[in-house]
Amino acid sequence: MANPVKLLALDAVGLRIDGRDILRGISFATDARRIAVLGRNGSGKTTLARVIAGLQTPSEGAVQVAGVDVTRDRRGALGAVGILFQNPDHQIIFPTVGEELAFGLKQMGLSKRAVVERVSETLSRFGKAAWHDAAIHQLSQGQRQLVCLMAILAMAPEVIILDEPFAGLDIPTAMHLTRVLDSTDAALVHITHDPRTVLDYDHALWIEGGAIEVQGPAAQVGKTFEDAMRQLGARDDLTDLAG
Ligand SMILES: Nc1ncnc2c1ncn2[C@@H]1O[C@H](COP(=O)(O)OP(=O)(O)OP(=O)(O)O)[C@@H](O)[C@H]1O
Ligand SMILES: [Mg+2]
Repeated sequence: MANPVKLLALDAVGLRIDGRDILRGISFATDARRIAVLGRNGSGKTTLARVIAGLQTPSEGAVQVAGVDVTRDRRGALGAVGILFQNPDHQIIFPTVGEELAFGLKQMGLSKRAVVERVSETLSRFGKAAWHDAAIHQLSQGQRQLVCLMAILAMAPEVIILDEPFAGLDIPTAMHLTRVLDSTDAALVHITHDPRTVLDYDHALWIEGGAIEVQGPAAQVGKTFEDAMRQLGARDDLTDLAG
């Protein structure tokens, strides 16, 4: 088969803001189900995640997720890729859980009835049917993060991007959400500073200064990244802190 559709395909992606290159020449194509994105603070990980999710249009290059051109096809992008940020409050728009879960489904063009069904089915799947009319601001941070995750899973995307979503959560909550993610069919792109959490992944990208420094099997890239970070950390001057 010529040019089979890859799960994730970026071709020469660049992003320039105010004359500054935030992302440069990012190309990769993979069918890996577990992809890690490693990199220091300010290296461009979140920006890359927003580009892959279709939330940020690159200045150049092409982005395809499961065959969808996420830059041009907004509705298609919603079914192809979901993104979970570190802070659920940057994601949540609506006052109640039910409304929050319904929003993306409406955007996808589902009928009113299908939206209602999908929302209640998703809440039931997590034993949270009672949350339908709950006020989101009364939930804890971990519970709000679960609301965001349920909103993404309701849309059943092919790929879920995790931008350090467990950083503010306690160990049991983080483990619970990890189990939820492991039980889904979606492929994961997991952004993290900590290579130890992703050593068993299939593929990893190390982003440095908005470009790919190294990519390959996660165990290998993770080790190279950690060694480099330890060497940097052993020095006293932080004058070259990325950004
Ligand atoms: N909209 C924007 N306008 C101007 N600069 C931006 C914009 N978005 C990101 N940047 C800059 O791009 C660089 C990369 O930012 P990004 O948030 O992607 O880094 P990161 O790798 O996610 O960092 P961290 O690990 O701290 O979350 C930073 O220097 C940031 O200031
Ligand atoms: Mg970030």
